[in-house]
Amino acid sequence: MIYLDNAATSYPKPEKVYDEMLRCMKEYCANPGRGGHDLSIKSGRAVMEAREAIAEFFNIKDPMRLVFTKNATEALNIAIKGVLKKGDHVITTSMEHNSVIRPLKTLERDMGIELTIVSGNEFGEVDVEEFRNNIKSNTRMIVCTLSSNVNGIIMPIKDIGELTREKGIIFLVDASQGVGALEVDVEYMKIDLMAFPGHKALLGPQGTGGLYVANGIEIDSILQGGTGSSSENMFQPEILPDALESGTLNTPGIVGLSQGIGFINSFGLLNIKNFKNLLINQIYDGLSNINGVIIYSKKEPSKNSGIIAFNFKEIDSTEVSYVLDKGYGIASRAGLHCAPLAHQTMGTIKGGIVRLSVGCFNTQDEINMLLNALQEISDSMKYVTNIN
Ligand code: ALA
Repeated sequence: MIYLDNAATSYPKPEKVYDEMLRCMKEYCANPGRGGHDLSIKSGRAVMEAREAIAEFFNIKDPMRLVFTKNATEALNIAIKGVLKKGDHVITTSMEHNSVIRPLKTLERDMGIELTIVSGNEFGEVDVEEFRNNIKSNTRMIVCTLSSNVNGIIMPIKDIGELTREKGIIFLVDASQGVGALEVDVEYMKIDLMAFPGHKALLGPQGTGGLYVANGIEIDSILQGGTGSSSENMFQPEILPDALESGTLNTPGIVGLSQGIGFINSFGLLNIKNFKNLLINQIYDGLSNINGVIIYSKKEPSKNSGIIAFNFKEIDSTEVSYVLDKGYGIASRAGLHCAPLAHQTMGTIKGGIVRLSVGCFNTQDEINMLLNALQEISDSMKYVTNIN
C-alpha cells in the first residue's frame, strides 16, 4: 500500500507513538488530575508534560492556555460558539472546511451573527487587503485556515494576524492542515485562537487535538462537567485549561501526540518540510507531463503545505481514486472534501478532485510508482486521444 491520504489522517505513525501509548495504557493510565494516588499523579504528570511540549512547539508561552480537545472540529466549535455573540460580524474565506463554515452558518441562522466570505483567486489565495476591505465597525472575528485541505494553498496568516491586532479583531486560525508541515508561532503570527488536530501532520493518534487561547480572550465553555478541580462549585471553573476541558482526558492519545511532536523535533520540522516539498515537486512535474491532467495546487513550497489536487479531464475523481486503490494499492481521497465553497472557488464543485497528500514516511520510489500508475490510467482512457 502506498499511502497518500495524509491530509485526512497521517499513516503510519512513528514507532515511539505506538510504544508510548501502549506503555501508558499498560503501566500508568489512571485518571489524570483525579484520585491523588500514584497512578493518577503519574497520568496527570504525563498530560502536563505533553501540554508543555506541545505549547513549546507552537511558542505558546503559558501551557495552561493550551486546551486539549478530541479534534480540530471540537476546538473550532468551542472557539466560534464560545466567543461570538448576536450582532457580531465575522469574516472568513471560501477555502474553509465545513468545521468552520457549518458552525458559522449555524450561528448566522440561529443567533444573528453577520458573515462575510471572501474568495480570492482560483486557487483560493486570499490577499490580506480583501479582509481589510470587508472590516466593519462590528467585525469581531476573522477565521482563516492555515492551509486548504483541498489543494494545500497556504494563507497569509502573519499578515492577517497583523491586521487583526491593528484593528482589535479576534483572529482564529484553523491549523488543521499545516501544523507539523509548516512553522507555526502563535506569537510571531499574532494568533488569538488556534484549533489543531493531533492525527494529521503532528503524527499523533485520532481523538486528539487542541485549542490555543491567547491571554485576554474571553471564551465561554460550551460543555460543562467534571474537571477534577473546584468540585464544590456547581458552575464551571473559569481558569484555563479546566474551563474548557470537562471530562476525563484522552491520556494515551495525548501522550502519543506528544511523541509525534517529539519525532518532528528530532528530525527538525524544516528537514521534514523540505523532504515533503521534494515529493510535491516530483508529483507536480510528473503530473504535468501526463496527458489530460488538470492540477489545482501550486508547486512553490511557500504556497503548498503538501497536497496535490488534480483531475483527469472529463473523468470523475472518484473513479480515478478507485482505480488507484484497487488497481495499484495507492490510497488517495476523491470527491468533495468537506469544503464545498473551496470547490466552487476552484471550479470543481461538480466532480470534486483527486487529492494526493504526502507524509514524512513516503518515498521518491513510491511517487515514481504513483506516476507510472497515473500514466497507465491516462493511456488506457480512450478519450485521451481527443485532447492535448
Ligand atoms: N478533513 C480531513 C480531510 O481533509 C478529514 O480529509
